[in-house]
Amino acid sequence: MKAVRFHSYGDSEVLVHEEVEVPRAGAGQVVLRVAGAAVNPVDATLRAGYVREVFDLALPHVPCYDVAGVVTEVGEGVSGWSEGDAVVAWLPMTGPGAAAEYALAPAEALAAAPRSVELADAAALPSVALTAWQALFEHAGLSAGQSVLINGAGGAVGGYAVQLAAQAGASVTATAGPGSAERVASYGAGRVIDYTATPLLEAVAGERFDVVLNLVFLAPQELARLVDLVVDGGVFADTVPPGLTQGAGRGVRHAQVFGRGDAGRLADLVARVDAGELRVHVAQRRPLAELRGVHEELGAFKLAGKTVVTP
Ligand SMILES: NC(=O)c1ccc[n+]([C@@H]2O[C@H](COP(=O)([O-])OP(=O)(O)OC[C@H]3O[C@@H](n4cnc5c(N)ncnc54)[C@H](OP(=O)(O)O)[C@@H]3O)[C@@H](O)[C@H]2O)c1
Repeated sequence: MKAVRFHSYGDSEVLVHEEVEVPRAGAGQVVLRVAGAAVNPVDATLRAGYVREVFDLALPHVPCYDVAGVVTEVGEGVSGWSEGDAVVAWLPMTGPGAAAEYALAPAEALAAAPRSVELADAAALPSVALTAWQALFEHAGLSAGQSVLINGAGGAVGGYAVQLAAQAGASVTATAGPGSAERVASYGAGRVIDYTATPLLEAVAGERFDVVLNLVFLAPQELARLVDLVVDGGVFADTVPPGLTQGAGRGVRHAQVFGRGDAGRLADLVARVDAGELRVHVAQRRPLAELRGVHEELGAFKLAGKTVVTP
């Protein structure tokens, strides 16, 4: 089969589209025929080796940990899944990914794929929607009637966060660029601030929020100013490392979010997609063979929106 792999850490040039063996399912695993594999910002960080102390990858490594596909082989001890099942998964980030025609997945990571979106596009759901849910509800404890500011709502995590927060009865203020503002408003944000036209701090001068969720890389001073927008005793949740390096003060709780796979919650998010409550946004599909080019664009900050690669 064809796969994209890197044999050493480095820039996008290390990605090679090559012939490799089709994986076989071990105990507790399934093999998937990949319909789509989603690209995430951290893929470039993993490939460059910047976080190898935490994510020690076995090289050569197949990138892309978000997958949608069809089960083609079921390993020993796997129950509940059969050949032909359409599924989605957040694959373990240190294991082989889904930038390939076939991918290995632990059965415990699988959820049935949504039926209302094309299977390839369903790869745009697992890690980002789970991170949005975990940030808002597990870390920030967001509840109905609270106010939340979502900084970076134009991105994949932000899009799901706006939808989930609005549906939970929170009042949502979001920042988004001109290309995403309309979509973010349609997700239920009561107010969308075009951060390219008006600086956020100016737009919300004098206001504070029960929860601020940050999804944008910011300098330490900018982060501190964002924390100032949280009410006393509120929550500042941040998905972008390294995050705050000192206490937030005023009783504000700082939650540095590290999303994790959760097949049960993923099944719930899939159900919301099929109920028409959660929209999956894919900016573009690209052939698997173009993954190197996609990473070049990612590194040059030219990749707008969620990209799904298809074998
Ligand atoms: N810790 C974790 O577990 C975890 C999990 C997932 C993601 N993350 C991190 O969370 C961040 C967001 O992830 P993502 O997947 O949503 O990324 P993404 O889809 O690439 O979205 C990035 C978006 O950020 C927006 N943006 C850029 N600069 C901005 C600014 N100054 N103010 C407001 N918005 C701005 C842009 O939106 P517009 O198009 O509207 O301009 C851009 O589309 C990334 O750093 C990612 O690595 C962490």
